[in-house]
Formats: sequence, structure tokens, C-alpha cells
Amino acid sequence: MTESTTIRWEQDDTGVVTLVLDDPNQSANTMNQAFRDSLAVITDRLEAEKDSLRGVILTSAKKTFFAGGDLRDLIRVTPETAQELFDGGMAIKRQMRRIETLGKPVVAAINGAALGGGYELALACHHRVALDAPGSRIGCPEVTLGLLPGGGGVVRTVRLLGIADALLKVLLQGTQYSPRRALENGLVDEVADSREELLAKARAFIDAHPESAQPWDRPGHRIPGGTPANPKFAANLPAFPATLRKQTNGAPYPAPRAILAAAVEGAQVDFETAQVIEARYFVELAAGQTSKNMIQAFFFDLQAVNSGANRPKGVEPRKVGRVAVLGAGMMGAGIAYSCARAGIDVVLKDVSPEAAARGKGYSEKLCAKAVAKGRTTREKADALLARITPTAEAADLAGCDAVIEAVFEDTALKHKVFQEIQDVVAPDALLCSNTSTLPITALAEGVERQGDFIGLHFFSPVDKMPLVEIIKGERTGDEALARAFDLVRQINKTPIVVNDSRGFFTSRVIGHFLNEGVAMVGEGIEPASVEQAAAQAGYPAKVLSLMDELTLTLPRRIRSESRRAVEEAGGTWTAHPAEAVVDRMVDEFGRPGRSGGAGFYEYGEDGGRGALWPGLREHFTKPGYEIPFRDMQERMLFSEALDTVRLLEEGVLTSVADANIGSILGIGFPGWTGGVLQYINGYDGGLPGFVARARELADRYGERFTPPALLVEKAEKGETFTDAR
Ligand code: NAI
Repeated sequence: MTESTTIRWEQDDTGVVTLVLDDPNQSANTMNQAFRDSLAVITDRLEAEKDSLRGVILTSAKKTFFAGGDLRDLIRVTPETAQELFDGGMAIKRQMRRIETLGKPVVAAINGAALGGGYELALACHHRVALDAPGSRIGCPEVTLGLLPGGGGVVRTVRLLGIADALLKVLLQGTQYSPRRALENGLVDEVADSREELLAKARAFIDAHPESAQPWDRPGHRIPGGTPANPKFAANLPAFPATLRKQTNGAPYPAPRAILAAAVEGAQVDFETAQVIEARYFVELAAGQTSKNMIQAFFFDLQAVNSGANRPKGVEPRKVGRVAVLGAGMMGAGIAYSCARAGIDVVLKDVSPEAAARGKGYSEKLCAKAVAKGRTTREKADALLARITPTAEAADLAGCDAVIEAVFEDTALKHKVFQEIQDVVAPDALLCSNTSTLPITALAEGVERQGDFIGLHFFSPVDKMPLVEIIKGERTGDEALARAFDLVRQINKTPIVVNDSRGFFTSRVIGHFLNEGVAMVGEGIEPASVEQAAAQAGYPAKVLSLMDELTLTLPRRIRSESRRAVEEAGGTWTAHPAEAVVDRMVDEFGRPGRSGGAGFYEYGEDGGRGALWPGLREHFTKPGYEIPFRDMQERMLFSEALDTVRLLEEGVLTSVADANIGSILGIGFPGWTGGVLQYINGYDGGLPGFVARARELADRYGERFTPPALLVEKAEKGETFTDAR
């Protein structure tokens, strides 16, 4: 018999055995081969010795309880190895089943995060007590990686909570609950405040329930809320596909559909058959492309980006204590809030005390909302607000070790505000600009210490958007880059790093999406159809409505600046077909977008968005003119992907992970693709397939779809876009 290397057996003299999950080779316990072998050994021993046992406590020696499946293994599953995955999964399920039907009480003492496989392990126990540790999370987030909980998570949550709650509270959104919220939602049975209390509660359950069985193994068990066999339940069933449509917007996310199917089908059969159904759907998802895309982006790329793969090595980490935010408008107010929330003192400066106070008012509003919703306490909110000092006086910025400028988008003004404060703040203060389009190298010319100057591009609304694009100017030093990176992490956001260029990465690439949508309207396609194409491709915002939000005058201004730059450099400007549409919308029809009260959509008195402007059909639409729906979607997706490759060629982007994460978190590139470059990797036929399709689009819709040399070269060499680290 092999030994259990990752699960320790600790038995006391009262017949209670504590199984301690403790993988000696990893910082967290995962469902790797060693665990699978250990579980087999432990299950055999439990069965052999059960007569001398009173009960079992399952806990972990790590900070987390159990981390779940090993994603390195899962991302490599192919249709050819799918059977192996199925067999391995069924073997673990059988062992978990043997433990839950041992006839002795088994309690999960959840000492830290129990997500995915970790929570599934706890579900196979008769009772779940969770330690209320800070940051500890419980739930089944598999759907966010394009998977479903394949370790009995669908089968057991359905039997524990009922189909509706299992789907809506646990499976379809992948919500990660704090221990207290997990208790409120029925995911765990008790919460403990200390490790001692955790184990004491586990023991108390064993004492009180000498012969435990799962609810679903007791005679007469019914799934709470009924099953589709019950007419009352069946009447509610059509609501689920609607929920699903709302969640995915019709975009190609196979996981929610598979979860729904596994839950509903599994509820109508016995436990063992339900386990097989769940395993089949799980394997189908794991072998498919979407889960690979999503695991690549949301696990590996995100980890690489946040852990500082792009941060200059050898610069000591530093924390900011006091930050100056210049400009208390929409962005400055949001930046001030995000910094204060992270515990940083903020001096928020605008042209008048009133304007600065209005900026702080934004934080007051957000705090009041958070308190009302129970997301924070009044004391914590007051402490946050006390950290923000509004002012109109430069002298108040003394001692600030970082500056984030967010005044109007105007080079001369930005130079002026930096002049005013550069001798007041700390002599080595980091100097950042939140410009969304102005080249950083030119902005840096307005300060004395150009090496300390850097771009820190936030996204709106700042309190919600997780990304910050860091832009390195030509003279930005490594020290400044490292400090900017540390500052972004300090405020719990995700930093990507790019080199200076007009529009950087995000603003330039999102422009292609917008242009393509607008161009299609100009060609004569039904505007509603264009919007539908964007939504079903998985973009969180429809293309014309987003254009209205950003205002149509913005691309015009950017275009004329870009055009001037191209012509000054001796090049010729190639007009995009969207330009004529934007010009007509603004000049001829007076519809500059939402802030002007009219755009592609109509807007009510209160600014609320109404219907698409009927004039679009009158002035642009050619009745009966259509192009394939797939072309509409791929024109948007390809235009962004192709320009991202050009940005790699130009050296503006230097990392694939940054491109993928930046595109999803910053500019709404659809998550199912795994990001803008992973979309190319995962395209049907790989890079050669993508190149062929790009050429087809170029023939039909214009040369802007011609694949760049780097892409063609990689396709010919059989390479994909990955970071060499
Ligand atoms: P805004 O117009 O809401 O705010 C600008 C603020 O700067 C105003 O409160 C104004 O009074 C203040 N200001 C003007 N001159 C000043 C001075 N001399 N000293 C101190 N404050 C002064 O503009 P918004 O939208 O907040 O944009 C600010 C910057 O952030 C711009 O560079 C913009 O391009 C950039 N940005 C904007 C994004 C957006 O979605 N709006 C996204 C990312 C960056």
C-alpha cells in the first residue's frame, strides 16, 4: 500500500480522527496526483478502522483549506486525453462518496479559503464549520474559468440547496462568499471566530450526531424546491434560460449552459447517475477551447501581471504614504477615493476650495452607499473620508511622496500644474499623469525630474475598474516604473505596463472596435443589428452606445491629432470609413453623444438612454443590405486583435499577458476569448486559421484587416503568442 503523503492522520484517544490536509511540496493543497493517491489510502484506512472511530474532522495545515484542481493539468486536457480526465475524476468522486457513506460523522473544519475543489470536498462532509478568517472565501468559481465544479459540486449543491438556489447563488455566477455570507446563503452550517472554536464546534457535531448520513442518503429525501418532474417547479423552469441569456448576453460561454444542464438533468436521476452526468459535462468543458482561454487569462496571465513579471527587478518595494491628486473632476475624485480606501492619505487639489470639496463629495457618496448596503461600517467609512483633504492651495501638498495629475486633457495646462507643485512635494516624489491620450514623453518635458515622470492611466469609474495602464516615457527611470507598479498594487488594482505611444495600448485598440461598429452603420447595416453583434460577441457594452458615452467629438479630436502627427512625420493618413459617419453625426445632425443629449441613441431629459435614433435608418441604412453576422462580430474582434499585434511589433506592448489582461479588464474585450492575443491563439485553425480569415476580411472589407508581418511569421513558424519568461 502506498502512503498518504498529503493527508495526515491524527487520532485522539476518544476515537476522533483529524485528517490534516498538508501537501509538503506546495504552499496550498491541490487535487494533484499525490492528493489522489493519499485520498485512496486514507479512504481504505477509514473503512478498515471505522468500528474504532467516532468521527472524522477534515481540516488543513495551510493558510487555505484546499485550493481545488490543478489548473496546469486542466489547461493541457485535449479531446484525446479527456477519457483519462473522466476516469480520474470519477475515482475521486467514488472516494468522496465512500467517506460520506462511512456511517460516521464527518465534519469539514474550513480554516481558510475553500473554493472550487476545496468547497466540493467540504460538501462531501456532513457538516461544515468555517473559520471567519479575513479574506477567506467560499464558493464554486469554476464558471469564471469556463468550467463547472466537477467534483460533485453540482450534484451536491442541487441536493443541499435546491436547483434554483444552487444555480443562482452558487453555480452560475461563481460568487465567492465571505464565511458569514456563506452561512447566510446556506453554503456552510456554522461559523467560528477562532481555530479552537472551529475544532470545538466540529467535535460538538460529532458528539451530537454519532451516525451521520447526508440528507440525500436518508429515506424520503426530496430536493428542496422540487425537480422538473414536479409541475410547479416545471412552471419556473423557463426562467433559467432567461437568466442565462442575461448572464452571457448570448455570447459563446459554454459553461453556464453546461451547468444548467448538469443541474437539471442530475436532479431527475439517482445520485450516482447524476455524478456521471456531471463528469461528462465537466470533461466536455475542460477539453474545449473556452476554458483554456479563460484559465490562461484569469489564472496564469493575471497572476503573472499582478506578481510583477513586468516590474523592474532589484528595485526595493516602496509604499506611498501621502498622495497628491491634482484635479478633483470625475477621474481625480475616483482616484482619491481608491487611494483613501487603501489607507493612503490624499490631498485633493482643484482650482477652488468648492471644486475640491465637490471632488471629496464623490467619496462621501460612495461611502454612504457602502454603509447602507452593509459593505462597510460607519467608522471605517469615516476613517476613509478623514484621509482625504480637499484644498486649492499648492502649499498643502508638502510631504506628498506621489502625485497623480487628472486635470483637463491639455498639455499646456498639465505642464503648468506640475510647475506649481514640483518644488512643494517631497523632493523624490513620483510624478504621474492620468492622461488618456497625450504622449508621456512630451508631458514629461514640463517637469524638472523627467526620470520620475510616468503615465498612470485609470479607467472610469475608477472605484469599479480594476485596471491601471502604466506608461513608460522615453526618459522614465526603472525606479519610477517600479514605484508606479507598487502604487497600483497598493490600491489593489492590476497594473499593465506599456511603452509610450499615441493612445498607448488601451485607448488605441478600443478605437478600432468603435470605428468598426460605426463603419458598419455607414455601410448601410441596420444599427440594431450592429449592436446585437457586439453583444453576442461578448462585449460588455454595445458598440454604438459606448461611442455615445465617450462622445463622438473625442475620436474626432484624437483623429486630427493623430493625423497631424502622421503627416508631420512624412506619412500619409489613411481615412477610416467610420470618420465620415462621425462627421455627419456631429456636423450635419448635431448629435455628439450622450453628454450632448443626442447621439446614435436618443436621451431623455434625465440623461437616460432611449431608443436608437430613427434618423440612422433614414440617413444610413440600406434596406435589405446585410453581411454575415459572423463577419460583423469578427470585424470588431479582429480589428482589435490585429492592431494589438502591430503594437507588439512597434514595441509599445512587451508582454502577451499584459495585452490579454489589459484588453479584458480595461476595454471590455470579451472574456471567453482569454484576451486579445489569446483570441488569436485559440482561433479555429490556430494562427494560420486566423491569418487566412484576416485575409478574407481584408478582401471583403478593407486593407486594415491585412495581417501584420509578425503574425504571418509566427503562423508560418507554428508559434503562438506567449511570454518567454
Ligand atoms: P474633468 O473635467 O471631470 O475634471 C478635470 C478637473 O480638473 C476639474 O475639476 C477642473 O476644475 C480641474 N482643474 C483644471 N485646472 C486645474 C488646475 N490648474 N489645478 C487643479 N485642478 C484643475 O475631467 P476628467 O474626466 O476627470 O479627466 C481628467 C483627466 O483624466 C484627463 O486628462 C482625461 O483625459 C483623463 N482620463 C479621463 C478618463 C475618462 O473616462 N473621463 C479616463 C482616463 C483618463
